[in-house]
Amino acid sequence: MDEAQPLIVTIDGPGASGKSSVARLLARALRVPYVSSGLLYRGVAYQVLRHGVDPDDEEAIVRLLERRPLRLEPDAEGNRVYAGDEDLTPHLHTDAVDAVVSAVARHPRVRAYVNARLREVPPPFVVEGRDMGTAVFPHAPYKFYLTASPEVRARRRARERSDDVAAIEKMLKMRDERDAKQSAPAEDALVLDTSELTLEEVVGALMRYLPKNVLPREA
Ligand code: DC
Repeated sequence: MDEAQPLIVTIDGPGASGKSSVARLLARALRVPYVSSGLLYRGVAYQVLRHGVDPDDEEAIVRLLERRPLRLEPDAEGNRVYAGDEDLTPHLHTDAVDAVVSAVARHPRVRAYVNARLREVPPPFVVEGRDMGTAVFPHAPYKFYLTASPEVRARRRARERSDDVAAIEKMLKMRDERDAKQSAPAEDALVLDTSELTLEEVVGALMRYLPKNVLPREA
């Protein structure tokens, strides 16, 4: 990596592919902040639900964001999303938000809003989402794309949610379809199928791919 080039590592992939956990652990190992783009989309979706805005009405959503702008606070352990002083984070991983977030995220002006918030974050960082290596940080020096079979992803998500695996798998497949447009891997991304790997094995594989000069020196 060019010494002057800021460290940005992008991790993209479908829902429940393990991106967030991997990004968080990799960021911790690199001693840099971790940034979740999905959490910002979830913040938009939550506000849409809370303020009774139609998820298909792009103009109304943009106006809502002007009135109640979102702020992302990244750190190594987890991200928080605020609207003014209010911390929205505890409300963002619910079935209600899951159900509308894809509809909200497909609007170009919503994507532009989220992308602008992400580009305000000063590097170095590890960022995860769907289009981080393609649309948002196309010049990032290190790009990964994680996949896993729908069954494995459903089982992973079932550990975090109350629904059964079959219902989650159905929901994930629906979201895959809706998110497909912005979810293709970057041409220069390393694609890794994590179905048979543990979290630690995935992080280890990504670490091995990164050159020594970006890894922190052992104290
Ligand atoms: O990664 P996640 O499940 O928290 O993402 C929530 C939703 O946001 C997902 O359905 C797709 C959307 N999303 C997106 O369109 N682009 C991104 N870069 C990140 C998330």
